[in-house]
Amino acid sequence: MNVTFYGQSCFLFEIAGKKVLIDPFITPNELAAHIDASAIEADFILVSHGHADHTADLVDIAKRTGALVICSYEIMVWLNGKGVNNCHPMNLGGQRSFDFGKIKMVFAAHSNSLPDGTYGGTAAGFIIEAENKTYYYSGDTALMQEMKLFGDLYNFDAVFFPIGDNFTMGVDDAILAAKFVKCDTVIGMHYDTFGYIKIDKEEALTKFNNAGLQLKLIEIGSSISI
Ligand code: NI
Ligand code: MN
Repeated sequence: MNVTFYGQSCFLFEIAGKKVLIDPFITPNELAAHIDASAIEADFILVSHGHADHTADLVDIAKRTGALVICSYEIMVWLNGKGVNNCHPMNLGGQRSFDFGKIKMVFAAHSNSLPDGTYGGTAAGFIIEAENKTYYYSGDTALMQEMKLFGDLYNFDAVFFPIGDNFTMGVDDAILAAKFVKCDTVIGMHYDTFGYIKIDKEEALTKFNNAGLQLKLIEIGSSISI
């Protein structure tokens, strides 16, 4: 699939002719000042959890595009209250087929509330099976034993892991996570956006390389094929 990075943990996946946006946080991100959130198209929007650095542009983009928002039941209820009604609720362990492929919502070791303090359910990640490939987008998470289970159950082509530390895994734990899920291609996310999560990117690339893994850091606004 083609993957475009919009900063923090926001990506646009183009899969099977569909545009799947995940964790839209663009407008408040100084590093993404050159990205026009109001020009982004989406057929689906995946939401890992409700924190503002994953949802700042969610309501606007969902309303403008009419995309189907796939999220926790609790986030769906919150969105309904904002006038976003085209939602599909899921919960941990649930799997569902959509036009572009199959999604499984999986546990993320993190907290989950909406910007106004509303409870958002359990924080989640997604396992995506589409076009004969399998991807794991962990969302915000700590290193966790569940990743070993995912590694046993799936053969991942690429995984998306936070590497910014402080609120999530840092580089060292992300390397362990890649080993847990048995995938050597890691797309880094959740780094550099604000002070707490600024990292030394060269050091991160070297550490992954030394571990026999490939870390891909996509320029904001750029795309890669995986
Ligand atoms: Ni978070
Ligand atoms: Mn976050």
